[in-house]
Amino acid sequence: MQNGAQMPTAGRRIGVFYVMLTVFLCGLLIGSSWNLGHDKGSRQRNPPLPPGTAPLGPPQVWDYNTLPQKLRDFLLHMRCRSYPVLLNQLGACAGKPFLLLAVKWLVPHLERRQAIRETRGRAGVVWSRTVVTLFLLGSAASSHDFPDLRGVLGHEAQTHRDLLQWDYRDTFFNLTLKDLLFHGRLTLCCPQAQSILKGDDDVFVNTRRIIEYLEGLSGVQAKDLFIGDVISGAGPQRDPKLKYFISESVFVGQYPPYAGGGGYLHSGQLALRLFNVSARVILYPIDGVYTGMCLRKLGLVPQRHVGFKTFGTEKKYRRNPCAHRTLTLVHSRTPGRVFSWLYLTENPFHMGGSACFVFSVSCY
Ligand SMILES: *[C@@H]1O[C@H](CO)[C@@H](O)[C@H](O)[C@H]1NC(C)=O
Ligand SMILES: *[C@@H]1O[C@H](CO)[C@@H](O)[C@H](O)[C@H]1NC(C)=O
Repeated sequence: MQNGAQMPTAGRRIGVFYVMLTVFLCGLLIGSSWNLGHDKGSRQRNPPLPPGTAPLGPPQVWDYNTLPQKLRDFLLHMRCRSYPVLLNQLGACAGKPFLLLAVKWLVPHLERRQAIRETRGRAGVVWSRTVVTLFLLGSAASSHDFPDLRGVLGHEAQTHRDLLQWDYRDTFFNLTLKDLLFHGRLTLCCPQAQSILKGDDDVFVNTRRIIEYLEGLSGVQAKDLFIGDVISGAGPQRDPKLKYFISESVFVGQYPPYAGGGGYLHSGQLALRLFNVSARVILYPIDGVYTGMCLRKLGLVPQRHVGFKTFGTEKKYRRNPCAHRTLTLVHSRTPGRVFSWLYLTENPFHMGGSACFVFSVSCY
């Protein structure tokens, strides 16, 4: 299926049937002690309930009915890891990318996507290294949140050939699912990518610095590479009003060290291993934390890199665009004021050849 917008009606019906069937099967699976898969440490405190208590709900979550809707949605569908592909870019990896930029894009952020494209540089070659950008997205069907963007996306996909889309609801608590689907695709279609930078659509990425950094790594370092803004000793937030709220019925214990989901860099080889091990790690709604859980299962620890600021930057950086030269990746603190990914080469925002740029002045 190349294009969801132009799928024939019969194909669409089969698609809908497929989705309903998966949802039904997944619902059945939830009944069989979903928390069994937690890592040993937390499993002791998240004991599996007797199997088969109730086949169509998550009975282990005793306060299920009082949980926020998005957490309930997550619990109901957490066993589903496969959704139909709507837009595919099989050819994107033909050039054996040195760096693959995977942008986790939420459907309505049209202007951010275009900003990223316009600053990317025409050839996709930065410092004689092949850089490929892919936007990862879920379903664009209309809902109370979004207008219907299917037609627009079909056109965009044909023009830019950089959209990867699956037929699932694109929400914050489905970002882990997006990671999994992406890693699955990568394993199939792009196993030769040397390194992958995964980031939200509102982060600034200094591509040059990343390439410089990658070139300086030894073979061994490059193989297990995983760097970002690493957080250690954190745990779930218990205030139901917070975005990252997770109830005690869902997870007890500490999170493993993990990189802030805003953006992190890892080797392509590690992406394949992460996908492999994820089959044995139960899904968790916070994508960065889930990746941390998979890394722990692989016996790896993500490394902290000072250039990654996924939680915003200190004041000195906000005032001075040139200070960004030293940073690798910065997450925008204020949503709506887009701080898009700027490529320091081949883009019109340079300040007289020096590697700093004017764009950021208005963006913080
Ligand atoms: C994730 O996507 C599935 C499939 O579209 C949907 O049924 C589910 O409600 C979504 N989960 C969340 C937390 O939005
Ligand atoms: C995937 O995991 C299995 C063990 O579960 C292992 O035998 C296999 O080598 C792994 N494959 C890759 C590509 O890491």
